Amino acid sequence: MNADFAPGAIAASAMGKEKPYSEASERNRAPILAVLERWLGDCREVLEIGSGTGQHAVHFAARLPHLAWQPSDLPENLPGIRLWIDAAGLANLRAPLALDVNGGKWPEARYDAVFSANTAHIMSWPEVERMVARTAAALRPGSLFCLYGPFNYAGRFTSESNARFDASLRSRDPRMGIRDFEATDALARREGFVLMEDNAMPANNRLLVWRRAGGEERSATDRSAGEARRG
Ligand SMILES: C[S@@+](CC[C@H](N)C(=O)[O-])C[C@H]1O[C@@H](n2cnc3c(N)ncnc32)[C@H](O)[C@@H]1O
Repeated sequence: MNADFAPGAIAASAMGKEKPYSEASERNRAPILAVLERWLGDCREVLEIGSGTGQHAVHFAARLPHLAWQPSDLPENLPGIRLWIDAAGLANLRAPLALDVNGGKWPEARYDAVFSANTAHIMSWPEVERMVARTAAALRPGSLFCLYGPFNYAGRFTSESNARFDASLRSRDPRMGIRDFEATDALARREGFVLMEDNAMPANNRLLVWRRAGGEERSATDRSAGEARRG
């Protein structure tokens, strides 16, 4: 869980040239990597959305040397991410991109996978919709979307600590909150993804893995739902 993560603190510490630090990232990076290692073996280019401090980017790039890791986040977080990248000195870790799911320019490149951790409950639901739609557009058919964080199932929290976390998020900003797995998966399906795995992770988190189907693999139901929603 990311209760220790404060974006303002990231910007402040980067200005002081002290690397921003998230204790949660240190705790969850090993279990996340164990899943990514199983899925990203054939990937060459991975885009991370909402890299935060940059700790995940450094850890995953160091342990997945066969691929290039592209971190990104809102502009205010890039100085902190750069501090981690500079200290790591990894050839396969790219300079962070300014990337806001709400707009602006996204990379022209097509990726083999997009990874994002602890972003869906920080973004508003319309922003989650944009993240999934733009992720679909940034991926080649057959590519992967890996989304880590807490999710509710059948309208219920999976733990008391998730219920408390959700309440604290909503008191900060009513647009934030733990997302429903079913709604998130339905959204992903409308954008042409097929759920491959729903991994239970420590601290009541999940790591969802979708594969982007080719146009011809999307079902007629999914296509008409997506078109109706856009219209
Ligand atoms: C809770 S932090 C997670 C950081 C990191 N992925 C981790 O797990 O430690 C949420 C991240 O989402 C980013 N974020 C929030 N709104 C965003 C948006 N509209 N577009 C892109 N990133 C966004 C924040 O800047 C922040 O870095």
